[in-house]
Amino acid sequence: NEQVPYDKSLDNSLALMQEGYQFIGNRVERYQSDLFEARLLGQRVICMRGKEAAELFYDSERFQRNGAAPKRIQKTLFGENAIQTMDGDPHIHRKLLFMSLMTPPQQKVLANLVMDLWHHSFRDIAMNNEIVLFEEAKKVLCTAACKWAGVPLNELEAEERADDFYSMVDAFGAIGPRHWKGRRARPKTEEWIQGIIEDVRSGRLETAKGSAIHEMAFHKELDGKELDARMAAVELINVLRPIVAIATFITFAALAIHENKGCKEKLQSGDRKYLEMFVQEVRRFYPFGPFLGARVRNDFIWNQAEFEEGMLVLLDIYGTNHDPTIWEKPDEFRPERFLDWQGDLFELIPQGGGDPAKGHRCPGEGITIEVMKTSVEFLVNNLEYEVPGQNLTYSLVRMPTLPESGFIMKSITLK
Ligand code: HEM
Repeated sequence: NEQVPYDKSLDNSLALMQEGYQFIGNRVERYQSDLFEARLLGQRVICMRGKEAAELFYDSERFQRNGAAPKRIQKTLFGENAIQTMDGDPHIHRKLLFMSLMTPPQQKVLANLVMDLWHHSFRDIAMNNEIVLFEEAKKVLCTAACKWAGVPLNELEAEERADDFYSMVDAFGAIGPRHWKGRRARPKTEEWIQGIIEDVRSGRLETAKGSAIHEMAFHKELDGKELDARMAAVELINVLRPIVAIATFITFAALAIHENKGCKEKLQSGDRKYLEMFVQEVRRFYPFGPFLGARVRNDFIWNQAEFEEGMLVLLDIYGTNHDPTIWEKPDEFRPERFLDWQGDLFELIPQGGGDPAKGHRCPGEGITIEVMKTSVEFLVNNLEYEVPGQNLTYSLVRMPTLPESGFIMKSITLK
């Protein structure tokens, strides 16, 4: 790989921990190249960013996911041997199951539940109470997700389950206590959900056809067999956990409303197009998933770089969403940039790129967008609040990140 910039550090693992979301972007700028080679965790890795890189990354002839996600991610964020690690026909078959649960009408059902629960959670709020929006959002979303999916959850349980779901997300970029918290939350949550799957299968719990729990419990693999109960639990958690994680984007949306003059008024005007653009800009602008990994299937050369069989390749999510060749003034928050955006499948990739039915792109984008819209509407139309002094900065090193204070609100009234 002579033409390809090579980061000569012995191993970049430490730099990755120190530079977080900007690790790939910093080097892309330094080497003036959308692609470079480095060493991470003792192996050779190609890192890349941008639209062409994303197109390449989603070519499933060239890349596979099996063997790409480290065990530490599977033991926290994904679950072991789940959809994220599958390839080929078995992957597509599993993926269509996920997609069948998330059609536009089902997105609406969930969004309506979320709106009701927002009202419920602020109904009895005392004027002088301070609320941390992120914490409230996790509870609302956990309750809505379980109800929507058909998973029984009592009100007293919601906070603890919500924390467990989020701990699995929070663990992915961490070492030490934060990693281990997610590592404990996973088996605990899997046992809970597995028990419910078993109740559904034995008829102890009745479920509606079409609900996530029902379809997951009775899904048949290509060989005609049901998933084992643990795997069904892992995959149902792959529906519930990321719904709870939308709390991160809702918190960032509140920050965007707070920090950008004029946004709130435009959102209050009821202009649906502006609401859509605002939500897209929140998903583009604020950091959440940093990058994705896949392994090279067979040797090939692309843009003079030698991709060797088995090599790990990282696609920069944050960097592509902030790539100046795609986005004018990428570091400005400007919803209007989406006015005549064509919806390209490889430019805006907070939840992956390409066609979700054919590759690994997130099946939950529709849900995420609808839930964000509803929550933003609630914040600007149904709630009055003040934002007291607090630390609203967010780290670009901690992964995943969040405004430091979680967005504290006070003097709240429900309209
Ligand atoms: C995959 C991000 C919400 C379910 C992914 C991927 C990303 C992502 C980056 C990986 C794409 C790839 O590997 O190529 C997000 C973000 C969300 C979100 C930032 C907002 C909080 C959701 C929701 C659901 C969901 C609401 C389900 C209700 C999944 C599943 C996969 C996935 C099942 C695996 C797909 C596969 O491997 O084929 N998501 N997601 N996500 N997401 Fe999401």
